Amino acid sequence: MSVVIRLFQVADRQAVRKICADSADMGKPAERIFPDRELLADMMISYYTDFEPQSLWIAEVEGEVVGYLSGCLNSRRFLRVMIWRIAPGILFQALIRGIFLKKQVQRFLIAMLKSFKLGGFKRSIPFDKYPAHLHIDIREGFRGQGIGQGLMEKFFAQAKNAGIPGIYLTTRQDNTACRFFERTGFSIAARYPLVIPEGDNFQVIHSVLYVKEL
Ligand SMILES: CC(C)(COP(=O)(O)OP(=O)(O)OC[C@H]1O[C@@H](n2cnc3c(N)ncnc32)[C@H](O)[C@@H]1OP(=O)(O)O)[C@@H](O)C(=O)NCCC(=O)NCCS
Repeated sequence: MSVVIRLFQVADRQAVRKICADSADMGKPAERIFPDRELLADMMISYYTDFEPQSLWIAEVEGEVVGYLSGCLNSRRFLRVMIWRIAPGILFQALIRGIFLKKQVQRFLIAMLKSFKLGGFKRSIPFDKYPAHLHIDIREGFRGQGIGQGLMEKFFAQAKNAGIPGIYLTTRQDNTACRFFERTGFSIAARYPLVIPEGDNFQVIHSVLYVKEL
């Protein structure tokens, strides 16, 4: 299998959004956690495709996009763009599509509120030390073949060349990808309580903040 790793082009946008929605639930399709794939992709990937495509790396096999690493070199800018440019559009779309009337979304929001009450969002990420962050997803059927590692190496080199001192990422503690992040040099800096809907109940698990110095 010959894998090409290259920067994102506008023509990749739909393929990247599809992989994002197909992998959103720890590598499984989004539908178990959120009912609207387009809105979910807007939340999770539109910053990277539309505002920082120069840090979005694509893995391609025989002309097909099979994975991506969406990087960001300036997480303060990311937060500003998310709050002022992306979130208002998502909220508007959510309202006109009646998203808040769906039981699954109401439970998702209740879980977020419970996480907030437990201090799950009191994250003090030291942006001076770790200004960059990333997300990574490989399509099912192409995992475990070195593609994730290849994407990571491209982004690490890009960030290092840009003089970035460190990178962070967050994931769920029960995600098997934790092993991958440890293999690629990340270590755990903090854990935060995270409440998730589970059947008719809620379950408290943890999210993990991983960091890596360059
Ligand atoms: C996690 C993921 C990005 C890893 O990419 P990949 O191409 O499958 O990983 P690689 O083949 O490059 O593996 C690199 C190393 O990590 C290890 N590894 C990768 N995925 C692993 C997993 N799920 N569990 C345990 N180890 C894993 C590999 O064994 C390999 O170790 P080795 O060098 O000792 O052989 C990919 O499997 C994926 O997209 N998973 C689903 C989505 C996801 O969970 N994304 C992260 C969300 S935060």
